Amino acid sequence: MLNNALEYARQNQAGFLEQLKEILAIPTISTLDENNQDMQRGAEWTANKLKSIGMNHVQIMPTGGHPVVYGDWLNAGKDAPTMMIYGHYDVQPVDPIELWKSDPFQAEVRGDNLYARGSSDMKAQVLASIYAVESVLKTGGLKVNIKWLIEGEEEIGSEHLGEFIKKHKGMLKADFCLNPDAGMLGPNEPAIVTGLRGLMYAELRVYGPSKDLHSGGFGGTIHNPAQALAELIAGMHDKKGKVTLPGFYDKVRKISAKERAEFKRLPGNNRKELLKITGAPELWGEPQFMPAERVGGRPTLEINGLLSGFTGQGSKTVLPAWSMAKISCRLVPDQTPEETFKQLKAYLKKSAPKTVKWELIGLHNAGAALTEVDNIGVQALAKAQEKVWGRKPYFAREGGSIGVVVQLQEYVGVDSVLCGFGLPDDGAHSPNEKLHLPTWRKGIESIIHMIHNLSA
Ligand code: BES
Ligand code: MN
Repeated sequence: MLNNALEYARQNQAGFLEQLKEILAIPTISTLDENNQDMQRGAEWTANKLKSIGMNHVQIMPTGGHPVVYGDWLNAGKDAPTMMIYGHYDVQPVDPIELWKSDPFQAEVRGDNLYARGSSDMKAQVLASIYAVESVLKTGGLKVNIKWLIEGEEEIGSEHLGEFIKKHKGMLKADFCLNPDAGMLGPNEPAIVTGLRGLMYAELRVYGPSKDLHSGGFGGTIHNPAQALAELIAGMHDKKGKVTLPGFYDKVRKISAKERAEFKRLPGNNRKELLKITGAPELWGEPQFMPAERVGGRPTLEINGLLSGFTGQGSKTVLPAWSMAKISCRLVPDQTPEETFKQLKAYLKKSAPKTVKWELIGLHNAGAALTEVDNIGVQALAKAQEKVWGRKPYFAREGGSIGVVVQLQEYVGVDSVLCGFGLPDDGAHSPNEKLHLPTWRKGIESIIHMIHNLSA
């Protein structure tokens, strides 16, 4: 049975890749209104794909935002385990577009890699799961019930998914949820992710004069909002890289000795490799923690974007009327996005000068998650990864966020098995995002093995 499914996947490789290119051609950028039609098309493509491999009850279900695609296959019977499979069909924006070597929505193979927005994060991961289920089902070996939950708002904080999950509790009952939206640590370093950070995302606007002014006529008498914003931002960290928001570290759970030992094993501590992947001249951060710990186990505050004044060609001597920063915090247990937002607000109240006005707008939130490693899904996947890569997976706490993990834990008591076949150098959210095709093919095989292990 197992070999027939693996053989089916190998026989159909070329077709799988062509279909992946099709979904990658739909620009499902969830944060931009101009792509709303594409979001609908992305949901339809996904639903049709589920139907075509023989899934039942396939529906595009409305939410307060972009729709969810659901489908299932429950013919394994009541005594068989039920595996939910989560995915997202939305992607991040493509800017700065001029840095892309090929069109982000015309997937191009160069060497071992496929370049396109959403290739690694995470359309290929969704399709890997679909192809694995297809391969097992078409060769007559599926003995596990499957439920698909594929959303369109992951990249904007899964805002409406929580409500959806609450409303469809019964439909979403499962023994665990396979979530391939995390990743591997290297092409030969399979991983099961045991923790994710949470996120609080806000926009800070600083207002000065009622319009842009002549900087010669008014510079020196009016506080420049760009400068005021820079001063506020500079005060958000101390010299040692610690965040200064009042109470920020109060609830941060200490990293245990056992967790520290796990962090120590991770390839993410390799300074040279980090500099190579990022292109940065040197590392930065809390010196008393290892790099992998700073990413997986410590909270941060990042400036995601800045805007003010004249940024066009040449020069304009202007004192801008306003400035804006996008600010987000990555959170660890037991911080919450709501409290962090209040802490940021408290910092601004305390630190903002009287010479400007300011406004803080919350954009989206996600909770930090730790997942149980003793569930049947983790066992089945660990065994599968060992078979395919010839080595046991790392158990790693990672720095990214995925809203659904806490939502499933809280509202339906379903734990997530976090994995994925994206690599640290894939350039997720960056220009020239890519997918390492040999790793992707192994990923498909590893899910086939996982399903086989669950059937035994
Ligand atoms: N696939 C990532 C999450 C991820 C990244 C997990 C790295 C593990 C390691 C996901 O698609 C993502 O980027 N999520 C957003 C969510 C946010 C907007 C709430 C993120 O982390 O920025
Ligand atoms: Mn992402």
